[in-house]
Amino acid sequence: MTTELAKGVSWIGVVDWGLRHFHGFELSTHRGSTYNAYLVRDEKIAVVDTVWGPFSEQFVENLRELVDPSRIDYVVANHAESDHSGSLPALMRLAPKATLVCSRKGAESIPGHYHQDWPTKVVKTGEAISLGSKSLVFVEAPMLHWPDSMFTYVTGANLLLSNDAFGQHYATSFRFNDQVDQNELFQEAQKYYANILTPFSELVLKKIDEVLALKLPVDMICPSHGVLWRKDPLQIVRKYQEWARQVPERRAAILFDTMWHGTRRMAEAISAGLSAEGVPSVLFSMAESDRNDVIAEVFRAHAVFVGSPTLNRGLLPTIMPVLEDLKGLRFRNKIAAGFGTYGWSGESLGIIEEHLKSCGFAMPVPGVKAMWQPGKDDLARCEDLGRKVAKAMG
Ligand code: FEO
Repeated sequence: MTTELAKGVSWIGVVDWGLRHFHGFELSTHRGSTYNAYLVRDEKIAVVDTVWGPFSEQFVENLRELVDPSRIDYVVANHAESDHSGSLPALMRLAPKATLVCSRKGAESIPGHYHQDWPTKVVKTGEAISLGSKSLVFVEAPMLHWPDSMFTYVTGANLLLSNDAFGQHYATSFRFNDQVDQNELFQEAQKYYANILTPFSELVLKKIDEVLALKLPVDMICPSHGVLWRKDPLQIVRKYQEWARQVPERRAAILFDTMWHGTRRMAEAISAGLSAEGVPSVLFSMAESDRNDVIAEVFRAHAVFVGSPTLNRGLLPTIMPVLEDLKGLRFRNKIAAGFGTYGWSGESLGIIEEHLKSCGFAMPVPGVKAMWQPGKDDLARCEDLGRKVAKAMG
């Protein structure tokens, strides 16, 4: 199935309804995903991006609906990651006269993935390839989300094919943003931003300024995952600017694991303290929670609490992965505190605080630890911690 986006430009991607994990097990995709690829037909013919390898056959079928692949002149690889380049071998075999078009970094990494000697044209920001009445104009977008990433703009149709940027892991039977549930759409777009793009937020802001300064008319923003932004396409650009600035919401995320429910009771007492100050909080038992959903909630929150009992002078094992993620994602503008129970040695709070510090989080209020099961006084200290952190949010 293909979808016409503008005269001579079609979506030729595939919908992966069954995908539940991406990048191995790094990222959960509860709503599946899509791999969006595009065909531009003019005097010359170009394909922009392909789809993940297991879907090559379906991709080629889509392409054949509209064109004989042997007539393709250009295959643009906006990004070398396998979800978009995975069908290059199948496509290039069928398109013997096609030139591969990519960024300088793409020309370095694509041979590393496929070990093929495809004729390649390297393009830089501002370079264009004329297809006849339409041209493809390229904008390098390093680290959105790999060093090789770039955007392709289709003149005449006014489409910005933005690859990973502005995408969502969101399989739907519709292709456009105005056709789907807006809560689901923005939930997935924000989860995608929080988990993938946050470390590159400064680059996101710069790139958006650079693209807006070009004053290109944009009728549609077409990412490589999820639905395409045709209704008020710049709304997702404005959202990215907001997310990239990382201005937090007055809310809290409380992450914990627990052995005999003592640390859980501490988490609930902290939540009660926050509630008393009018701050909503979400509690995540890390043994039961999806790490990427937790990250998306932490991204929104101003305050982050992390709790674990002490086990073997360390933390419960479910806590470390999320602390590592938080360190790598380099979230800004967060305040944090630790908490947890212990029986005899009690190292967990110190370890948590050390990690929270390495995440770059401010810790204006000391955390709380409680011996054995928390008593009334301990729970009161937790509630007080919640109140104090709420006040520290301003
Ligand atoms: Fe959708 Fe960076 O790949």
